[in-house]
Amino acid sequence: MRVLAIETSCDETALALVEGAKTPQGFEFTVDKARLLSQAALHAPYGGVYPNLAKREHEKNLPLLWDDFKDEAFDAIAVTAGPGLEPALWQGIEFAKKLSAQTRKPLFGVNHMEGHLVSSLVQDGRLEKVEMPVLGLLISGGHTQFVLMRNWFEYEILGETLDDAVGEAFDKVARMLGLPYPGGPAISAQADLARSKKQISNIKLPRPMINSGTCDVSFSGLKTAALYSLRQAQAASPLSEEAKAAFAAEFEDAVADVFVAKSRKALEDTGANIFVIGGGVAANRYIRERLEKLVLDEFPDVEYRLPHLAITGDNAIMIAQAALCHLLTGDWQEPPADIKAVGNLSIAS
Ligand code: KG4
Ligand code: ZN
Repeated sequence: MRVLAIETSCDETALALVEGAKTPQGFEFTVDKARLLSQAALHAPYGGVYPNLAKREHEKNLPLLWDDFKDEAFDAIAVTAGPGLEPALWQGIEFAKKLSAQTRKPLFGVNHMEGHLVSSLVQDGRLEKVEMPVLGLLISGGHTQFVLMRNWFEYEILGETLDDAVGEAFDKVARMLGLPYPGGPAISAQADLARSKKQISNIKLPRPMINSGTCDVSFSGLKTAALYSLRQAQAASPLSEEAKAAFAAEFEDAVADVFVAKSRKALEDTGANIFVIGGGVAANRYIRERLEKLVLDEFPDVEYRLPHLAITGDNAIMIAQAALCHLLTGDWQEPPADIKAVGNLSIAS
């Protein structure tokens, strides 16, 4: 079965054509075509995504991308329904509805977080040997949540951010340090540099909610602490490049410490067999390694799955793969009568 997927939940306009089939142990996927136009450069001056600008760009980009797909055959169309920026989501949904009418192919709405989770479990094009329960840590510019998958398509949110998403904190702190948007890769590069030179920051940041006894997290206080401590440190003279890099490492350490503690709690509480991370921040080398160490040292029976770097950020391949899982198992038979954009659509119903 071949699915054409459309993703416009944030600042990436993406289309993908993915072929999927059931195997004795799960599913296999072949990405026949994938195209993505990123708006990152456009939003960079704002230090974050500007929803109406994103919507206008999707409107412009969707027909450009579709031009590359219009001669292809497919069985169904999948579009991200949420969570995401509503104006941006609507642009993709309206476009998908028109395509569905024009091509007479059924249209299905996909949960963006389910896309991150499912695609992060795929290895070498195969989604197999998925031993439940699966614990997912989904970390991006818009979301930060621990999701437990007890059975296929049955999700429970174990904990989430009470305020800012972790990617947002990376982006804001990068801006404070004069680093470019998106801030995650920039902070990560500076932090790696400081670690390689064994430079340690004199500034110490808090590890918010690390001992809360829950799987919830909070990054707004960390962001504010970063702002005030940087202001204070720079009151007399600007920080040297070395000190800024060391500060980036301290920030990354604070985030990683929190995720390690919360992941430990989630793994203990759930007895999960697989631990997987997904979302844009899951590209972070240091966080990937710290979580790997946790699993190896303390949960040797747990399988740690990491998504391919090419699909950690928003993309349409993940939307196609999630849709194919539902379609190939017969979980989705009839397309819904209507699809609405839901900005805060939860993965757990
Ligand atoms: O999943 P994504 O592409 O879009 C959303 O759904 O938000 O995630 C984007 C976020 C941005 O905040 C970006 O700074 C962050 O992912 N990010 C990273 C890294 N690469 C991207 N954060 C930390 N380290 C990275 N290497
Ligand atoms: Zn995302």
